[in-house]
Amino acid sequence: MEGVTDPAFRDVVMARHDPLRLGGVFTEFVRITEQAASPGVIQRHLGAARFPIPVGLQLMGSDVTLVAASAATAAARGAAVVDLNFGCPAKGALRGCAGSALLDDPPKVAALVRACVDAVEGRVPVTAKVRAGVDDADRVEEIAGAAEDGGASMLTVHCRTRAERYQDSVDWSRIRRAVEAVSIPVCGNGGVRVTEDIRRMRSETGCAFVMVGRAALGDPWIFSGERVTRQVAARFLLDYAGNLRGLRSGTPEGAAARMKQLLRYWTAGGLVTDQDRLSWLREPDPARLMARIEAALGDEVEGP
Ligand SMILES: Cc1cc2nc3c(=O)[nH]c(=O)nc-3n(C[C@H](O)[C@H](O)[C@H](O)COP(=O)(O)O)c2cc1C
Repeated sequence: MEGVTDPAFRDVVMARHDPLRLGGVFTEFVRITEQAASPGVIQRHLGAARFPIPVGLQLMGSDVTLVAASAATAAARGAAVVDLNFGCPAKGALRGCAGSALLDDPPKVAALVRACVDAVEGRVPVTAKVRAGVDDADRVEEIAGAAEDGGASMLTVHCRTRAERYQDSVDWSRIRRAVEAVSIPVCGNGGVRVTEDIRRMRSETGCAFVMVGRAALGDPWIFSGERVTRQVAARFLLDYAGNLRGLRSGTPEGAAARMKQLLRYWTAGGLVTDQDRLSWLREPDPARLMARIEAALGDEVEGP
């Protein structure tokens, strides 16, 4: 997720999970506009390979040649998967005719996937992430079929349309329709709030995998269902802040903004309640915000 799932965040999540249960993670999207992504940019998004968990690199763009060249670089730099974004509803993506702007043009979706499959020369799987449609979900089968025709190894279906953006209500039957339309594995996405929803989405739609978006920002343990304490939740945030400080670009203000991005959704450990969420988000002083998280460590037990 853009602005969140960089290596600093992913490492803290991966350090706390059984690789087999987590399955894999994706980078933020790398936007391709005027030129192909450089090896340096790709490497920055992939980060150091510290955990035995596949890291997929996501690309978003509409220029077939540039996106394909970026896919080849991603494969050469060790991305486990190259994923193409056809879901982003942001104005920037639409102006560049990328992301969800391409959902109305299934042949273009197929062409982009095909060009990337050819460019990576079998070194890594190429996958695609789509929304269910632009204004309605009438063409979800056609969109899913286009990704399959292009040679995608897996398809993630975010069940909302572009018009529905991030609305609360979701219709998982659209995921089922995609599952029935293609023979490649489908990863369902959209509206998973609690661990039980992961099982329910799989049984209701027949999808092979489930992708968790915002709920993982509020509870990074959602994948296993582990209920953590307030102290463990605070330790997660402090470790994340520590990773951010280690970056050349890391500033106290930047780290506080990143903390707040998670605190908007945070539910783990009861650290933030709906009643006091606003007071956390309105804290203007980065040092005081960090002190507030540290205070939640309370009497964290240190070893003997
Ligand atoms: C802040 C934010 C950033 C996101 N960035 C990306 C992204 O870079 N690539 C992507 O495929 N989806 C991105 N998404 C969409 C999510 O991956 C997911 O499809 C969407 O939130 C629906 O799932 P959910 O209901 O579980 O949150 C983003 C969502 C949010 C809220």
